[in-house]
Amino acid sequence: MSTTLAPGPVYRADRTRVTELNQRELERFAAHTGRSKALLDRARKVMPAGTPMSWMAGYYMHPQLYVAGGEGARFFDVDGNAYVDMNVADLSATLGYGIPAVEEAMVRQFRNGAHYLLPTEDAVVAADSLGRLMGLPFWQFTLAASGANTEIMRIARHITGRRKLIVFEGKYHGHIEETLVKFDGERVVPEYQGLSGRRSEDTIILPFNDLDAVAAALESREVALVLTEPALTNCSLVLPDPGYLEGLRRITAETGTMLCIDESHTFSFAYGGLTRLWNLESDFITLGKGLGSGLAFAAYGMTDAIGDHVEKHLDILHRRPGIGLGGTLYGNALSMACARAVLEHVLTEDAFNRISALGSRMADGIDAICRDLDLPCRAFRIGPRSGLCLTPELPRNYAEARLSMDLDMLDARRVFMANRGYWDCIVSAGPQASFAHGKEDIDGYVDLMHEFMNNIK
Ligand SMILES: Cc1ncc(COP(=O)(O)O)c(C=O)c1O
Repeated sequence: MSTTLAPGPVYRADRTRVTELNQRELERFAAHTGRSKALLDRARKVMPAGTPMSWMAGYYMHPQLYVAGGEGARFFDVDGNAYVDMNVADLSATLGYGIPAVEEAMVRQFRNGAHYLLPTEDAVVAADSLGRLMGLPFWQFTLAASGANTEIMRIARHITGRRKLIVFEGKYHGHIEETLVKFDGERVVPEYQGLSGRRSEDTIILPFNDLDAVAAALESREVALVLTEPALTNCSLVLPDPGYLEGLRRITAETGTMLCIDESHTFSFAYGGLTRLWNLESDFITLGKGLGSGLAFAAYGMTDAIGDHVEKHLDILHRRPGIGLGGTLYGNALSMACARAVLEHVLTEDAFNRISALGSRMADGIDAICRDLDLPCRAFRIGPRSGLCLTPELPRNYAEARLSMDLDMLDARRVFMANRGYWDCIVSAGPQASFAHGKEDIDGYVDLMHEFMNNIK
C-alpha cells in the first residue's frame, strides 16, 4: 500500500457556539415555515416521515420543508420563502428551474405522448451527441444512475465471466446491493439495514488513490469491473493523484478487468465531464441525474466491442434469454426529448466555462474567509464545485475526506443559511455553481459562510 500523508490538524469550531447557534436558528426557522409544518403533519399520516421517499427526510436535521415552485437559481417553499439553491438537488438540478429550452421540448413531447416503448429520433440524436462529447460510441438510457450502474455490472460480468467488483471507500454509486457495502475491518458487509448481505461477498472495497491495492486485488483475475468516480464527490471531495486514473486504466486492461468511470456527478464539473477534461479512457461511462434537468433519466456509454456484445446477447422476449437489461420506462420519449434539448441548448462549452468561473470565484471567496478568520482550512475546488476543507491539505482518500464532514457544523450552517435565503449543500457534498447562478448568488453565499464561520469560531 502507498503511504498516505496526514492532511494536517482538523479544524473544529467551538461546539458550544455551534450548538447554541443551531438552536437559535432552528427557532427562527420554525417561525417562518408554519405552512411546511402543517403539511408535514398531514403528510405523516400518509407517507413514512412525511416524504414521498423517506431518504428526503434523512437528509435534513431541521423540520421538513415543502416546496411550492422554483425559477432559475431559486426555489420557493409553501410559506413563500425564497432560497438560492446551492445544493441543486444533489446535482440533479444543475440547470436551474424552469429552463425554457427544456420546458419547450418536454411540453411538446408530452403532448405527443411521453412513451411508446419504441424509440424516437431524439434518442438517436442524444446518443450521438453523448458519443461525440464523451468519446464512447454506444449509449443506453435508464431512469437513474443506479439502473445504469446495475446494467454495467451485468454486462461486465457477462463479458468477463467473472463475478467480483471493486469500488472505493467514500463511494456512492446508487441503490445497488453490491455497492451499498463497507469494509468493517475484516470483511465487506452491507452498509444499510434490509440488504441481503450475500451480494456484499461479490464486492472488494479499497482506498482511493492506492494503485498497489488495486493491482493486488486484480491479480487473481476474479474481478469483472472496477467502478469508480474520477474524483470522489460523495464524501466532500477527493481528487485523484496525478497518474492514478491512468494507472487504473492500465492495470485493469492488463488483467482483463473492465473499468467504469461513474460521471453521474462529475459530468457537471466540466464540458464532457472529467473524462474529456483529463482525457480518460474507460470501457464504460455512467451519466445520471437527468444531466441536471431534474427529470428521471440516466445514460451509460460503452466501447464498440461492448456495444457489439450487447447487441449479440439481446434478451428476446419468451424466445431467448439475453443479458438482463432494461425497464419499461427506460429510454422513454419524454426523457429522450429532454436529453436532446439539454445537450443541444444548455450544456454548451461556453456555459461550462461560465460556471467554472463561478466555481473559482466561490473557492477564492472561501480561501479568503480562511485567511481572514485565520482558519487552518482551505477551499475545495474543481470547476463549479467548491466547499470548505477543514484540513490544511486536501484529502487523498475517504478517511481523510470525512474529516471535513463536521456534521453538527454543517447542520447548523444549513439552517443559518436557510433563514437568510440560501439552501446549502447536503453534508456529503459541496456547494455548486449551477447554470442558473449569477456572480451575485455566489458572492451572497460566500458572505453568509463568512458570517457563519465568524459566529462559531
Ligand atoms: C457517483 C454516483 N453514481 C450513481 C448515483 C446514483 O444516482 P441515482 O440516485 O440517480 O440512481 C449517485 C447518486 O448520488 C452518484 O453520486
